[in-house]
Amino acid sequence: MKITSFFTIVFATSLPALTTVASTGTDGIQTRLLADDLAIVQAGETVYRANCASCHGAYLEGQENWRDRDAQGYLPAPPHDATGHTWHHADDLLFEITKYGPSVVIGDESYRSKMPAYKDILSDQEIIAVLSFIKNTWPAEERKWQESVNATAIDPSAPFGGKSSSILDKLSSPD
Ligand code: HEC
Repeated sequence: MKITSFFTIVFATSLPALTTVASTGTDGIQTRLLADDLAIVQAGETVYRANCASCHGAYLEGQENWRDRDAQGYLPAPPHDATGHTWHHADDLLFEITKYGPSVVIGDESYRSKMPAYKDILSDQEIIAVLSFIKNTWPAEERKWQESVNATAIDPSAPFGGKSSSILDKLSSPD
């Protein structure tokens, strides 16, 4: 069954202004997601179930009261569906948050977050796949908006952003 069928799809009545600044690039490489490559999306769903669903939810719904920090100052995990703000960010920024963790990406070592850095846990290919899965679930309007953020961040001549293009070799399986 396709996971999108579970979503309560909430269309934003007014989309936020295009003010999200693209990541300047923690690693200096612009990474693109492959949200329309269904083999990668499927591989990414497996990565999601094993690594992300425990916090971000089986249906990408996030944790309760995700906008409010707890008594220790930690944010709960936000949703990755259209009700959250993952889709406000460029592909490259999503990749870098997942790979390096929020404190590195925002450049503040003292920033405390429960979001793990996945650089020693997942390969770049797995990170691209899991985020491609997440992106694939967004409704058309959010997809379009996020692509406009991307357009400010991505060199279209570098479809894999300089990262390995052997994602399919490593991740895809026929079913
Ligand atoms: C232990 C809980 C936990 C796990 C597991 C987890 N996250 Fe997170 N994630 C968080 C929290 C908490 C935040 C909010 C960041 C903060 O603290 O500022 C977050 C934020 C994010 C963001 C930024 C979203 C936004 O709108 O800015 C992305 C992208 C993300 N996570 C992706 C992932 C992916 C992909 C996985 C699995 C590979 C994953 N996370 C696993 C807790 C988790």
